[in-house]
Amino acid sequence: MPSTFNTVDSEVALTHTTIHPVWVRIFHWINAAAVIAMCLSGWQVYEASPIFLAIRFPASIALGGWLGGALLWHFAVMWILVANFVAYLTLGVVTARLRKKFFPLGLRAIASDLVAALRGKLSHGDVSQYNAIQKLAYLVVIADIGIVVLSGLAIWKSVQLPLLRTLMGGYDNARIVHFFAISVLVGFFAIHVVMVALVPRSLLAMIRGR
Ligand code: HEM
Repeated sequence: MPSTFNTVDSEVALTHTTIHPVWVRIFHWINAAAVIAMCLSGWQVYEASPIFLAIRFPASIALGGWLGGALLWHFAVMWILVANFVAYLTLGVVTARLRKKFFPLGLRAIASDLVAALRGKLSHGDVSQYNAIQKLAYLVVIADIGIVVLSGLAIWKSVQLPLLRTLMGGYDNARIVHFFAISVLVGFFAIHVVMVALVPRSLLAMIRGR
């Protein structure tokens, strides 16, 4: 039956087509490891001078052991995070992958995919295409990492970068921006990992490419 052949052919094509090129996979996993190390060491740094007394991070979930140790981690891993992030964005723009994967993205598509998601009817059959909610979430987290880096720079080089410091609303406000941008990142991470666990085929694609 021709239709059977078509189905088999398209399944074979799907399993042999690369969904995420190797550079995306390398950047993604380096980014995930770097973000986790930055958060854990950042929590230890925060403990030396908490912004909100009610929000504290026990040593069991922090990295570095003490302020000096945590700063060493934070200042070492930040170079990896930033270099990796800039390379991902540059290759994404140069190869037009960012545009093709995340756009077009309209309010109508977001609203209808949100309704479908809340009803548990959002399809995850084709992991090579992101739905509107995924596109939005990935774009938000990419922009958020940009804000984390810029607010971090404003805190680290506050005197040398007065314009950035002013844009962040001053040194103390830059710490608050940094804290909330990281909170968005942690919220994304929790939902992202649950979604990946619900669609394990997407994890395979992010590991082996297809
Ligand atoms: C904070 C750390 C993380 C960030 C910021 C992050 C960010 C992203 C982004 C931006 C994408 C889209 C990439 C693209 O197509 O160019 C993505 C995809 C993906 N991520 Fe992560 N990720 C993180 C951690 C993780 C972890 C820990 C896992 C595994 C449990 C994971 C599994 C995946 C998978 C499987 C995809 C493809 C998902 C799909 O088909 O929808 N990520 N991630």
